[in-house]
Amino acid sequence: MRLKDKIAIITGASQGIGAAFAAGFAKEGAKIVIADISDGAKTVKKVADAGSEALFVKTDVSKEPECMAMAKAAYDKFGSIDILINNAAVFANIVLKPFTELSSEEFKKVIEINTSGVFHCIKAVFPYMKEKGGKIVNISSASILEGIPGMPHYVASKGAVMALTRCMARELGDFRINVNTIAPGFTHSEGGDQFDRGKALPLPPLDELQLQGRCIKRPSMPEDLVGLALFLSTNDSAFITGQMIVHDGGLSLH
Ligand SMILES: NC(=O)c1ccc[n+]([C@@H]2O[C@H](COP(=O)([O-])OP(=O)(O)OC[C@H]3O[C@@H](n4cnc5c(N)ncnc54)[C@H](O)[C@@H]3O)[C@@H](O)[C@H]2O)c1
Repeated sequence: MRLKDKIAIITGASQGIGAAFAAGFAKEGAKIVIADISDGAKTVKKVADAGSEALFVKTDVSKEPECMAMAKAAYDKFGSIDILINNAAVFANIVLKPFTELSSEEFKKVIEINTSGVFHCIKAVFPYMKEKGGKIVNISSASILEGIPGMPHYVASKGAVMALTRCMARELGDFRINVNTIAPGFTHSEGGDQFDRGKALPLPPLDELQLQGRCIKRPSMPEDLVGLALFLSTNDSAFITGQMIVHDGGLSLH
């Protein structure tokens, strides 16, 4: 087991890609802290079914004090924090629309969750990681390469996650903390499918739009991302930091 007795905080793990990470990490022996604004009971059960243990801590990552309290609760329960996967984001409910119709409040709200949320959680776990090292994986999005129209707030928030990853890698390297980014392409999570159904701009289903451009012409499922997150959370990637790995079946190659 690659993560035996490791403690992993996974934000936004109540559903979707985060829930797949939780189940996949649990199979490798990790104990999981689910930090999500929505109820985490389903994922707690998935982790138990995979033979491990999970703690759900209701957390809004846009609120720094809640992130601090979540990290403390994780440490109080399990006595360590080894891995942080910054996966929580506003995504499912984003309705594509012309940028002229996007208010500054909507823009700010997305940045507060998708970008500041990552910053808050890194700050929150640092006191518990700084003595013994750790792994931080931030989930960005391949949309930062594609530049999807109609969602500049989301794309900008995810571009900032990559930039933040590089700064944090520099600041945390001396503490033996690796910080890397995964940039998924369109993935059939609950959020991914909801987002696709809710598009207001006249675009065909995202798979239809993207499939032909991919080198690997098949849909991407949340479970596809687990191996990469595991790699970045173990010492198999000990000398890799500040990097972004794009997980989009080769779509962004052209
Ligand atoms: N699915 C895709 O196509 C795709 C593509 C690129 C990137 N991503 C990224 O992957 C990650 C997971 O996406 P997903 O598809 O599983 O989405 P999802 O909507 O299915 O799940 C997101 C989870 O984040 C939680 N969340 C939302 N706001 C929160 C907050 N303020 N505090 C704490 N938790 C909060 C939600 O409750 C939910 O459980 C996100 O960062 C998303 O931007 C997804």
